[in-house]
Amino acid sequence: MPEPADVQRGLEDVVALESRICYIDGKGGRLIYDGYDIRDLAAQSTFEEVAYLLWYGRLPTASQLAELTTRLAGLRVLPDTVLQILREMPKDALPMDVLRTAVSALAVFEPEETKPGAASIGGAQRLTAVLPTILGTFHSLRNGKEPPAPRPELSHASWLLRAIRGTDPDPLEARALDVALILHADHELNASTFAARVTASTLSDLYSAVTSAIGTLKGPLHGGANERVMELLDEIGSPDRAEEVVRAKLARHERIMGFGHRVYKVEDPRATILRDWSKKVGEAKGSLRYFDLLRAVEGVVHREKGLYPNVDLYSGSVYALLGIPRDLFTPVFAVSRVAGWTAHVLEEYEDLRLIRPTARYVGPVDLAYVPIADRGVAIDGPKPPA
Ligand code: SDX
Repeated sequence: MPEPADVQRGLEDVVALESRICYIDGKGGRLIYDGYDIRDLAAQSTFEEVAYLLWYGRLPTASQLAELTTRLAGLRVLPDTVLQILREMPKDALPMDVLRTAVSALAVFEPEETKPGAASIGGAQRLTAVLPTILGTFHSLRNGKEPPAPRPELSHASWLLRAIRGTDPDPLEARALDVALILHADHELNASTFAARVTASTLSDLYSAVTSAIGTLKGPLHGGANERVMELLDEIGSPDRAEEVVRAKLARHERIMGFGHRVYKVEDPRATILRDWSKKVGEAKGSLRYFDLLRAVEGVVHREKGLYPNVDLYSGSVYALLGIPRDLFTPVFAVSRVAGWTAHVLEEYEDLRLIRPTARYVGPVDLAYVPIADRGVAIDGPKPPA
């Protein structure tokens, strides 16, 4: 049997494809979207402008941005059929499962976008525009309220907050969420984006690729970490307990959520920006409790494990201060990342190649087939489910 190349578990450091969308300098701690440093985009751009950049590969003119903003606002409405499905959802359904289900359902009722090979910027804009409505509608219904009325005059970030919270954000709140959406919009071949590209590489459609991506982002080692960081803060309670709780977890070889990264070997630049926003919003709200706890945890984890914060460490504290319920933190990540997922699907279509790695086979070969009558009683192997 030919000797295959060395196994790269988790495809670590494997260069799978070329892309113009995102560059991560893991050693230097830099993140670039289509040539623009994330620090410049977070300071001066908006989510709508960044979505345009990811989809078209260039920043929009004022009129192009105005046109996109209007178009996205017009694409926020859910079909009654999908609204009915959301009404049937159990109130305790996991929001990421609801999001994944709603996107799948949307595909059924918008078939033009689900034919094999169907992927367009129009479809990307539709999915990007509608995710906040899905979240806000589910959250309203699970609280016994009617779905949020459309507010086309609101920006994407403001609509997201309005749809979830039921109240309009003030300028600081709107800007804080807009920056968080900019920071989460893309990140090269992270697991959920890779899942989207694998799906697209078979010539499957955009909605299927986004459904794959949502299911992938849900995992605690990926998008699910932001919610678990807050659970850690609940467990710690006060900064003076951070050392005791974190060291005990590390002693049990547990992962501290919000730390470490497959690519960044220094601080995730998104964590740097979110740390500042966590403090800024905390000061505006008169509550630095989360910020102080996170700073204490940072100190212990860096000293004990030499690990740096990633994007998920501070994002949850900003969302909590904005009044977003904790179980919607990962869905908010998806609301942003759908811009990147769809940009990567469109790029995959431009230079399509079926993504299909190989595995090193380590099982037996040439076993003789024994008829079942001669196999006697099973003496080992997994017990059948009860
Ligand atoms: C995101 O890929 C992306 O770009 C993702 C993302 C994006 O924008 O899409 O950036 C978003 O998913 C950020 C990551 C969110 N996840 C978490 O915060 C979960 C906690 N982090 C870890 O599980 C871990 O750091 C990963 C999964 C993020 C990366 O893991 P790797 O690259 O597979 O590293 P590893 O598991 O091989 O760990 C190397 C060493 C191990 O120590 P040893 O067993 O060799 O002694 O570092 C340790 C690990 O135990 N380690 C941690 C740790 N992360 C790594 N130890 C404690 N706590 C941690 N968080």
